[in-house]
Amino acid sequence: MSYYSIKNLEHYFKAYKKSVKDPKAFWDKIADENFTWYRKWDKVLEYDMQEAEFNWFDGAKLNITKNCIDRHLAKRGDKTAILFEPNDPKEEAQHITYKQLYERVAKMANVLQEQGITKGDRVCIYLPMIPELAVSVLACARIGAVHSVVFAGFSAKALETRINDSDCKIVITADGGFRGSKTIDLKGIVDDALENCPDVKSVLVVKRTNAEITMKEGRDHWLQPLLDMASGNHVAEIMKAEDPLFILYTSGSTGKPKGMLHTTAGYMVYTAYTFKNVFRYEENDVYWCTADIGWITGHSYIVYGPLLNGATTVMFEGVPSYPDFGRFWEIVEKHKITQFYTAPTAIRALAKENLDYVENHDLSSLKVIGSVGEPINEEAWHWYNDHVGKKRCPLVDTWWQTETGGILISPLPFVTPTKPTYASLPLPGVQPVLMDELRNEIEDNQVVGSLCMKFPWPGMARTIWGNHQRFKETYFTAYPGKYFTGDGALRDEVGYYRITGRMDDVVIVSGHNLGTAPIEDAINEHPAVAESAIVGFPHDIKGNALYGFVILKETGAGRDPNNLRKEINELITDQIGPIAKLEKIQFVPGLPKTRSGKIMRRILRKIAEGDFSNFGDISTLLNPEIVEEIKENRI
Ligand code: PRX
Repeated sequence: MSYYSIKNLEHYFKAYKKSVKDPKAFWDKIADENFTWYRKWDKVLEYDMQEAEFNWFDGAKLNITKNCIDRHLAKRGDKTAILFEPNDPKEEAQHITYKQLYERVAKMANVLQEQGITKGDRVCIYLPMIPELAVSVLACARIGAVHSVVFAGFSAKALETRINDSDCKIVITADGGFRGSKTIDLKGIVDDALENCPDVKSVLVVKRTNAEITMKEGRDHWLQPLLDMASGNHVAEIMKAEDPLFILYTSGSTGKPKGMLHTTAGYMVYTAYTFKNVFRYEENDVYWCTADIGWITGHSYIVYGPLLNGATTVMFEGVPSYPDFGRFWEIVEKHKITQFYTAPTAIRALAKENLDYVENHDLSSLKVIGSVGEPINEEAWHWYNDHVGKKRCPLVDTWWQTETGGILISPLPFVTPTKPTYASLPLPGVQPVLMDELRNEIEDNQVVGSLCMKFPWPGMARTIWGNHQRFKETYFTAYPGKYFTGDGALRDEVGYYRITGRMDDVVIVSGHNLGTAPIEDAINEHPAVAESAIVGFPHDIKGNALYGFVILKETGAGRDPNNLRKEINELITDQIGPIAKLEKIQFVPGLPKTRSGKIMRRILRKIAEGDFSNFGDISTLLNPEIVEEIKENRI
């Protein structure tokens, strides 16, 4: 029996059972029947959960772009692969067929090779949501270079850190980017970042906004003339199963961002399989994921997963509010979108606006709607289900992470009955467990525990670039023998999972993962700041927002607090990006600390939330009196 495309609940249970009883046989068949290989594997899986070593499809040889593009050419050459919807609705959409995509990727691959990029080199991509972004990603994969896409909302400093951490040789960027009514000076940001990146030898620049920019002689090249000269054919590099495919940075609760490394064969098999089942993609569907390719959702479910299935995937350059709050629904109507995948923060923002924005558009093409990035609260779930899905499209609440490569827990449309706020059941091959503080498995229902995975799946990250020890410590030591997700979850009586949120100092703001430590580091650089602590608190639209408690030095004492707040947020914008700005900043004379000097964030979280009940035992604090004082002056 084939399990590549799950048809109904019984089929799912059979697949699931098989995948747990004999995971190797399960993945062997999926990989064997649905992809093109130069050589098949000798072993499906070897692993060591203690050492965090995973080897999937050992011995196999492949190129992921042969699977994303070449193999579709005979049957789907004239089918739209990428449908580009520009920021400005007056600008025409572009339909890039599989044949055209082949040629564009081949040209780009040839240009990269002419620039001296070879297998294993790292390439930084800092582009807006334009077709060249997907093309660059695929061109890297074509030649075996490791792409590191940095979200084009990150600051120069954040870009610099990421370029240097993975030692990128080249940067692909644009003269600028359009986002709603704004234009963003991407090239200027790259120029600033590169002042401290001595190893970057060349920069390729896409013309998008026609902004005036400076081109550094010998380093910067306009991309188009190079593409015009390049051949439209390219022989793909032959890659081993575990050769690196890409690095993507994600925030940690401490220290610098973690460059999660994904490899070739396992990631391919997993993203293709999950895309097919979670979105139930069928041949003439037009699938749209509103994420940015700068995040994992875009990697797995705008580029790789859809193209591996020969799908039409939409790339949207703009924002949901431009030119008005009906933009998403206008696009759904215009391109007759069948699967629509977005984030709860977008849903909450749109739900606040007049219902006419939705109702003025024909959404009857929709078949499946999805959510990702953070827990979707009940109100948002119902609004989405009632007004967008019209109660006829299953709403898939997909839970996963940058680290997991693909979706792990989600309903399958027309297969799994949905339940608001529950991500529901694990996908075949995924074995979640909930663990208590004593490291025992929780068997009871409705008890929150640490969500872990007790068996590997093909799409999981293999390491943190340059720091395997950190990978091991972050994910595989808290619960030995298991992968710890960092999330809390509970299970209901039928085995559905509900994700309750992060258990560490990562806060998800508008669907973006933000570690509090790097933001504190940024603030502490302000000359008037002595110390700071940041926590998340619930926010109507963003899900969470950031609350900063800041102790000033004497030099800051006489200063206008509002000016200081502005300066602190400017510093954060410079160091990280505007997404990490603080919603509220309270100046405090001290922070509640334990006797060993650790800040009691639990108490600060409660104060930020405005929940003054049950602070727990504060008598052991070094300075219990401070709690009252902070509480009194809460903003
Ligand atoms: O806390 C979980 C939350 O997002 C975290 C992963 O963030 P990131 O690596 O940026 O990837 C986001 C896109 C996959 C998780 O640890 N999260 C993601 N999806 C959900 C979610 N929380 C609840 N429900 C979800 N559906």
